[in-house]
Amino acid sequence: MIQIASPIIGDEEIEAVNNVLSSGMLAQGPKVSELEESFARYCGTKFAVAVNSGTAAIHAALFAAGVGPGDEVITTPFSFIATINPILFLGAKPVLVDIDPGTYNIDVEKVRGAITNKTKVILPVHLYGQPCDFNELQALADEHGIIIIEDACQAVGANYGDKKAGSLGNLGCFSLYATKNIMCGEGGVVTTDDEKQATIMKSFRQHGMVGPYEYAGIGYNYRMTDLHAAIAVAQLGKVDDFSLARQNNAKILSEGLANIKGLELPSVKQGRTHVYHQYTVRITPEFSITREQLMIALREKEIGSAIYYPKPLHAYSHIAKLGYQIGDFPNAEEAAEQVLSLPVHPRVSAEDLTSIIESIKDLSNAKS
Ligand SMILES: Cc1ncc(COP(=O)(O)O)c(C=O)c1O
Repeated sequence: MIQIASPIIGDEEIEAVNNVLSSGMLAQGPKVSELEESFARYCGTKFAVAVNSGTAAIHAALFAAGVGPGDEVITTPFSFIATINPILFLGAKPVLVDIDPGTYNIDVEKVRGAITNKTKVILPVHLYGQPCDFNELQALADEHGIIIIEDACQAVGANYGDKKAGSLGNLGCFSLYATKNIMCGEGGVVTTDDEKQATIMKSFRQHGMVGPYEYAGIGYNYRMTDLHAAIAVAQLGKVDDFSLARQNNAKILSEGLANIKGLELPSVKQGRTHVYHQYTVRITPEFSITREQLMIALREKEIGSAIYYPKPLHAYSHIAKLGYQIGDFPNAEEAAEQVLSLPVHPRVSAEDLTSIIESIKDLSNAKS
């Protein structure tokens, strides 16, 4: 089976974990500090704070930005649920705006129309690994004094101009979940240039602690372990090689799948790099079979595929009850009906790519 995701665990990761095990110090310690230093250096930010998931990273970043009851956070309805739940946990209101159908990222013009005097944060997602329209968002944020928090969970290593995802906004959130471009099983990181925010997040991840058994406010146990950090440090050393492999695979897929009726390929906007956390095509009604039929047919040929995401966020009851209904975000709704992600990760071989391309061509009758 050609899997849709498959982590690469080499000798470096195994040795790094063994060293932590031998040290006897398993919880947050020197490996977490090493990861924070290397991650900040890689992204080009002054600070990085490691936590135990991407969800915790978003929660901590929103907390550091001072988001609370009465505040509004503008974000996208086409993302993983973890983009939005932390906003709700902080008692703030997620204000959703539709996406650009070309990139699946938030539509900046729609953001403009959603800004109110309660807007505290704009939370764009660099979906599938392609940075959003950042300069345009930054101009809006500057005009209105709004903080930008990037959900860069899928975009480690992606460039916007000469800057890395995570260094564009005030805070950048990353996930190190097992299927991400670099991973440690479960983990997260927040990047920032703001020392005060970094200090707040370091306290937030440790029960609100500011000194030995001194608590400045509420917090969680969001600490990362040194076991996880050791894996993440080893993975960070390979991130550019991984991105390159994904980009090469994406290029081959796009060449091989060009000009198939009803199949739309991913597009990359100028001035940015896409790190292809997912290689996502659209299966439109012009395609010979439905998306679901295609998935089944591919599975029969031992090819994995997946839908990210089958429902837009406003279709879930706890979000819908904020006052949203189907029809509000037509681009996100159509994307949820049409997108299909194909294997693109570094372990997909040249032979696998040929098999994916030929299988889809056959199924589309493109050869006849
Ligand atoms: C866009 C996005 N946001 C947030 C998250 C949450 O990250 P995690 O699963 O590490 O909590 C993920 C990944 O799962 C994601 O893809």
